[in-house]
Amino acid sequence: MYIGLDIGTSSVKAILLGDDQSLIASASAELSVERPHPGWSEQDPDSWWTACETVLDALKEKAPAELAAVKGIGLSGHMHGATLLDDAGRPLRPCILWNDGRSGKQCRNLEAAEPRFLKLGGNRVMPGFTAPKLQWVRENEPEIFARTRMVLLPKDYVRFCLTGDYVGDMSDSAGTLWLDVAKRDWSDDLLAATGLTREHMPRLVEGSAASGFLKSDLCTRWGFDTAPVVAGGGGDNAASACGVGAVDPGSAFVSLGTSGVLFVTNDRFSPNVDSAVHAFCHAVPDTWHQMGVMLSATDCLNWLGRTLKASPGDLTAALGRVDGPSPVSFLPYLGGERTPHNDVEIRAAFAGISHETDDRVLTHAVLDGVAFALKDCLEALGVAGTRIDRVLAVGGGSRSTTWLEIIASLLNVTVDVPVDGDFGASLGAARLGQAAAQGSTEGIFTRPALKTSIDPVPQLIAPYAEAYGRWRNLYPALKQAGF
Ligand code: XUL
Repeated sequence: MYIGLDIGTSSVKAILLGDDQSLIASASAELSVERPHPGWSEQDPDSWWTACETVLDALKEKAPAELAAVKGIGLSGHMHGATLLDDAGRPLRPCILWNDGRSGKQCRNLEAAEPRFLKLGGNRVMPGFTAPKLQWVRENEPEIFARTRMVLLPKDYVRFCLTGDYVGDMSDSAGTLWLDVAKRDWSDDLLAATGLTREHMPRLVEGSAASGFLKSDLCTRWGFDTAPVVAGGGGDNAASACGVGAVDPGSAFVSLGTSGVLFVTNDRFSPNVDSAVHAFCHAVPDTWHQMGVMLSATDCLNWLGRTLKASPGDLTAALGRVDGPSPVSFLPYLGGERTPHNDVEIRAAFAGISHETDDRVLTHAVLDGVAFALKDCLEALGVAGTRIDRVLAVGGGSRSTTWLEIIASLLNVTVDVPVDGDFGASLGAARLGQAAAQGSTEGIFTRPALKTSIDPVPQLIAPYAEAYGRWRNLYPALKQAGF
């Protein structure tokens, strides 16, 4: 038996997996995000641990005998969050999250001062990443910076609560920008650029390797027979890749979650900093990956739902199937954008609204806008030399066939849809826990059975290609107008 614990942005999810990877039980607990200033996004690290206690209590309630037999625990979590701990291992301030935009100035300065961020870190210095956030703390909260003894990513703080060890894995740590991504080791030079040293960083392990064992008081609390090994785990995207078996070079998936991600596995470190492609380590050894990341995907539909006082599911159900692009265009930049613009200041827009525009048209425009932004990610990966002709769809948004048809037609790829079930980061995390317990990755990262495959719809291809051409003109226009 294995546990996967995923620290998501809006909830913590735990699954209990059998030795044959069948799902035995699952539980989740909500989290909240604080936005104390425009563009800021923070979370209380202790709320992750409280939520973990809740979900593990729930697993014990649902399946005590199976829980007792757990051999491995894997962790995944939202990436890039800066969790600053003092000498006693206590958080010094709320965690600054992946979608926080406060550090634009620090990004520009760090890129100018230390060009090796692009070369060794393999990525533009973007406000979502951890290094510029520490530089912001250094400049704006010097007393907190001075008391910082350890910097951890969100899932690694949970690991610290579980095992008492300061450990990070390669995939998540690459998202700090302090890693020499090709060497899979901390870079002393990149750390020095933000006034830090290796001493502030956790020990590194591969995602599928052991990082430590569950503390004995927690073993007693949840009734484990022997202390489970805790695997290195992975950032949520690399862990999702493990969940859908995307660990071989060339395998790709699209995630329609809070953020939108186009992910492809590589056999080598393959950066393309010019179009803001993310190039990180994968959660399995000797493997890397590239991603195009958009900051708001299903979040755009959630925002529309809140605004129109309707649930996102009702909005997409009312839309039904589409026979061409929406007459209204939407730019999904509610909180800025990463790939390809690396622009934390840009904001979203609708264009082309008329007297006839109703909720259905706006919903259609939002689905199109997110798909256009994913097409931007595909183009950016293309410039980096990566071709994709097939992707697996995961995340809440993949429940909409209409959305997947638009994406297939626009990206000109076949979209594979797994059978109902959970193939997200928590499954990948549990599989990494299994790999650590078994001491091998052999046979673990299989692909899910498919419910269906969605090919590009012939009559949608040309109209969507044309609409994408028009949509692309909107970002520069918006930018020029000062939005
Ligand atoms: C990836 C990224 C997001 C978060 C939240 O770079 O910032 O995908 O990991 O899911």
